[in-house]
Amino acid sequence: MDDDLIGEILVPADDLARRVRELAADISRDYAGRDLVLIGVLKGAVFFLSDLMRHLEVPCEVDFMAVASYGSATKSSGVVRILKDLDAVIEGRDVLIVEDIVDSGLTLQYLLRNLGARNPRSLEVCALLTKPERRKVDLPTRYVGFEIPNRFAIGYGLDHLEQYRNLPYVAALNE
Ligand code: IMP
Ligand code: MG
Repeated sequence: MDDDLIGEILVPADDLARRVRELAADISRDYAGRDLVLIGVLKGAVFFLSDLMRHLEVPCEVDFMAVASYGSATKSSGVVRILKDLDAVIEGRDVLIVEDIVDSGLTLQYLLRNLGARNPRSLEVCALLTKPERRKVDLPTRYVGFEIPNRFAIGYGLDHLEQYRNLPYVAALNE
């Protein structure tokens, strides 16, 4: 794509594919014989989730949540509003939240509290990307794909003003 806003490639497509297969193998091993529900956080996680799920070798269901964080587009305030809740009842089930990226961690902190209150049997997180430098709260992220530097990332689900989600790699946004 010829676009001045697409900067340095942070994670190439083949690294994404390899790591997604590794994560799926870890999850398949850890959740053998369990009652796995994957919860994708719309919209960014959809791309990662669908690739991850295709490589899982255990029975699993998928459901989605949409949340909005009050504040600007690039800065999360920690005050989260549910735009779309789950269809599934997760009480007593093994729940894995699938996220595109953990930045401040505030959105995930809210989701862990909210979903935890519904009494799942277990509740873990699988995040494709994390920006450790930006973290404001300490979170238990069981599965993480890649640590990236403190840059605004686009591609493979991540957007800038709803564009670039379809890039097959993760790049930095030229700001
Ligand atoms: P947090 O609450 O600060 O951890 O922000 C989490 C959400 O902000 C992610 O699920 C993304 O939707 C969005 N986000 C954070 N960093 C980036 C980025 O570098 N590119 C695109 N979206 C981002
Ligand atoms: Mg987003």
